[in-house]
Amino acid sequence: MAPAGINMQDVLARVQEVPFQPLADAHLLDATRPSEAPAEEFRSLRTRLNHLQSLSPIHNVVVTSPSPAEGKSFTAVNLALAEAQLSGNLTLLADFDFRRPIVHSMFQVDRSPGITDYLMGKAELHQIIKKVAGTNLYIMPAGEAVLNPLELLNLQEVNNLFNILPTVFNWVILDTPPLLFAADASLLSTLCHGTILVVRIGTTTIDSVTRAMQSLCENNVLGISVNGARRGELYSKYTYYHSYYYAAENARAEELQAEAAAEAENKQE
Ligand SMILES: Nc1ncnc2c1ncn2[C@@H]1O[C@H](COP(=O)(O)OP(=O)(O)O)[C@@H](O)[C@H]1O
Ligand SMILES: [Mg+2]
Repeated sequence: MAPAGINMQDVLARVQEVPFQPLADAHLLDATRPSEAPAEEFRSLRTRLNHLQSLSPIHNVVVTSPSPAEGKSFTAVNLALAEAQLSGNLTLLADFDFRRPIVHSMFQVDRSPGITDYLMGKAELHQIIKKVAGTNLYIMPAGEAVLNPLELLNLQEVNNLFNILPTVFNWVILDTPPLLFAADASLLSTLCHGTILVVRIGTTTIDSVTRAMQSLCENNVLGISVNGARRGELYSKYTYYHSYYYAAENARAEELQAEAAAEAENKQE
């Protein structure tokens, strides 16, 4: 039952549309170039998530990483775009990084009214959601800067939001602050159905992954998404991530195909 008498269908009917005009250097997926990197990797991640959703009711997903600049926002935004490309797959991208919000700049919309304004009772729900015109994507900017992000996140209203959003959105993707720098993401992960941990090749250390996993409620980690990997690189040097790895699976399949083709060629010679 939707709490506080909020009917999400009514809310959606009232949200404002914004044009799709991403910032030029935001590294967003380009729907008109489906074979360009990293579109394929995000489709692969999408496929894995959709499969998990077919097994259990996963709708609200936290995207986080141990440290800053590892690609949390990059992953959250592109995953949301990839999901929204599927017909009828209403997807909400919510900027829960109140400390360094970026979703509003990537889509060139106002930061406020946003989530913090709603949680402080200064805005209504329909005012903080924007529909990206011509897509299934909705965005929820972070809102005005606050001194006490954790206090806000502890409000019952946050939990209420996570109960009502999935009544209309098939996916609610949360961009969040780094795990080792603030408690926000680990708190959010306890309120959501799943967590994706982003690590960046050449930046994230094994030690920080270990500490990040410890800070999370481990039972809802859906997987680790490896960012910045060159194709074929992962399975040789980064075997540690095997069981969690999503996005490189296509790369591995391609690598196997290439190996098989080379072998076949050798035999012919
Ligand atoms: N795989 C990638 N390819 C190209 N640029 C990337 C990639 N991942 C991240 N970036 C860039 O690196 C910077 C940091 O990424 P961001 O997603 O903002 O990190 P975080 O949210 O973890 O702090 C951004 O400028 C982003 O566009
Ligand atoms: Mg970020």
